[in-house]
Amino acid sequence: MNIIELKNVIKDYPLGETTVHALRGIDLAVEKGNLLSIMGPSGSGKTTLLNIIGCIDFATTGTIAVGGTEIHELKDSAITDIRLHKIGFIFQTFNLIPVLNATENVEFPLLLMKKYSKTEVRKKALELIDKVGLTEYSHHRPAELSGGQRQRVAIARALVTNPDIVLADEPTANLDSVTGAQILETMMEMNRVSQTTFIFSTHDEHVLKYARAVVKIRDGLIVKEG
Ligand SMILES: Nc1ncnc2c1ncn2[C@@H]1O[C@H](COP(=O)(O)OP(=O)(O)OP(=O)(O)O)[C@@H](O)[C@H]1O
Ligand SMILES: [Mg+2]
Repeated sequence: MNIIELKNVIKDYPLGETTVHALRGIDLAVEKGNLLSIMGPSGSGKTTLLNIIGCIDFATTGTIAVGGTEIHELKDSAITDIRLHKIGFIFQTFNLIPVLNATENVEFPLLLMKKYSKTEVRKKALELIDKVGLTEYSHHRPAELSGGQRQRVAIARALVTNPDIVLADEPTANLDSVTGAQILETMMEMNRVSQTTFIFSTHDEHVLKYARAVVKIRDGLIVKEG
């Protein structure tokens, strides 16, 4: 089963008098449980593509199906639901909440789900904080953390809800190779245990070793699949 299917996805950004053609006709099918890496130079459209798959942004034309459901047929509330329950997103710029500490940032999506008690939420968050090696920093706010530590909070927040799909925009870009490898191992374990589908964008050759499929993108078009 394809958990994600994009057909002829085009994304244009208006920019003053001109238009930026960020995606120029993307066809992509991702099987459930796959580990897909999206590679491409800066400006090629990786973040745009992940944002569209993650229902954070919308295509100008083309269709996107997540878990067999076509996004454009859904109401906003249903799309919000998919984002919260089915997808974990690790942003290139982290998007942590500045006034919350590391643990509270990780708890945030769990609280929105309204599915667990406060004690369960805390327990799950601390488990993930431990997995990404931040126990010592659990009380630090984002401004009191290094770039790599912030990235690890963002990773923990994306994984804590145990989503079907994890979208990771350059997940190891700010991490040293040992920490990066540990985090990729955590993701591999989730993939094995829960059949979680992972899509990474990356420049990093180390990440490629973990991928089962690779898509190369250039100027908003897929140039190679393998
Ligand atoms: N909000 C926006 N408005 C106008 N143009 C945009 C916007 N967001 C992205 N773009 C443009 O769309 C193209 C694709 O950008 P995108 O961020 O998807 O690239 P990327 O592959 O993620 O790059 P990087 O590796 O640097 O993160 C670029 O030309 C970029 O300048
Ligand atoms: Mg990007």
